[in-house]
Amino acid sequence: MSDGARLWGGRFDAGPAEAFDRLNASLPVDRRLWRHDIQGSRAHARMLAAQGIISAEDGEAIASGLDRVAAELERGAFEFAPADEDIHTAVERRLTELVGDPGRRLHTARSRNDQVITDTLLYLREAADAQRARLAGLVGALLDQAEANLDTIIPGYTHLQRAQPVRLAHHLLAYVRMLERDRVRIEAVRAASDQSPLGSGALAGVGFPIDREMTAAELGFEGPSVNSMEAVGGRDQLAGYLHFATQLGVHLSRLGAEFVWWASEEVGFVEVDEAFSSGSSMLPQKKNPDAAELARAKAARLAADYAGLVGVMSGLPLAYNKDLQEDKAFLFDAVDTVDLLVPAMTGMVATARFRPEACRAACEGGFLAAIDLADHLVREGWPFRRAHEAVGSLVRACEATGVGLAEAGPDELAAAGLPDLELPPLDAQASVEAKDVFGGTARARVELALMAARAQLREW
Ligand code: ARG
Repeated sequence: MSDGARLWGGRFDAGPAEAFDRLNASLPVDRRLWRHDIQGSRAHARMLAAQGIISAEDGEAIASGLDRVAAELERGAFEFAPADEDIHTAVERRLTELVGDPGRRLHTARSRNDQVITDTLLYLREAADAQRARLAGLVGALLDQAEANLDTIIPGYTHLQRAQPVRLAHHLLAYVRMLERDRVRIEAVRAASDQSPLGSGALAGVGFPIDREMTAAELGFEGPSVNSMEAVGGRDQLAGYLHFATQLGVHLSRLGAEFVWWASEEVGFVEVDEAFSSGSSMLPQKKNPDAAELARAKAARLAADYAGLVGVMSGLPLAYNKDLQEDKAFLFDAVDTVDLLVPAMTGMVATARFRPEACRAACEGGFLAAIDLADHLVREGWPFRRAHEAVGSLVRACEATGVGLAEAGPDELAAAGLPDLELPPLDAQASVEAKDVFGGTARARVELALMAARAQLREW
């Protein structure tokens, strides 16, 4: 008995085993591409008719049939059939039920191999554009907080040990820089997705005088893809997206980690708004920075999606292989994850309340200005290495008597074997102002960086 319900039934005696059918079906994953599938089919049918490959009447029947299929899918009235392997099969099957033979002509000069990657790129371009716009919102929120905290000074850390004071704005602008590079990456993904695979057929091109420029233009692509085998057998546009998503995930994970720590009672630099926190089912006092914690964790998932696709692609001979069907689960998971993350992080950043006094207090009374003292001695003519050692000894003497560097007096200086020097101002304010270099944390430099970042954001 031939399995005529399948697109490929003619060559087969019997239908697939149920166990294989369940493995082979991609409909649960790719049904979200239905709009793009219909969009691609509309363009293909219109081109076939324009080229005289199918008749004008068949072209019209297909177009109105596709409208009806789209309407059914839109209102949730579309009934999927057990033999609908994937969204392409489902749409063509229903179209043929509705309009008969013209539906059977739609797949002339087309393969699901060029169809699926065309659909996927249409989807990816939309997702990339939307996510780029949302990323701009996050950058805007960081810039607003940076502007509001231009004069908030926090300890900057290395090895999570207090190192030097920095403007909070400078710290937040570091994330803006990371996100700007993420923007460059997503723009590259968008550009790499701008060639239409439609017309590549199964792998070799097709035996009809199709107009690939026409379908490419109608679908909003820059032009047709150049090599049919690469077009149906490659997925590096998707890998590019997953790299972007992974790198963005890493950036948001680090930002999330900072917020978790900053919001701890031990540190207390920021209060995360209730709207981005949750409570404990047992401990009545808890207000936990869950949005930041989830951002910290999601990078792993994005990296796993990226690793998954790269794993599927590695070693795969040209051209299309069914392995490629696995691409979309990774892509969609990453798109969904980024769609969840970016708005939540934007809201969390926008509503966060920083505590400038707590930030400043963490900068005072310790040794954050040690390098400023060493620099002062260098300006007095000391060799840097000797100044470094002398200040190191002074830090040790201050630690022994329990005072901060700015409070060091004759006792500490003597204990460190130093002459009775006049100490320069060693407060956090003086320290940040001293870092008056391009890319540094002095007020004028940070103001300039903020202005430059705002100007750049207007170009997004
Ligand atoms: N569902 C398939 C996919 O996602 C569509 C392409 C199927 N092509 C084929 N030759 N069986 O990749």
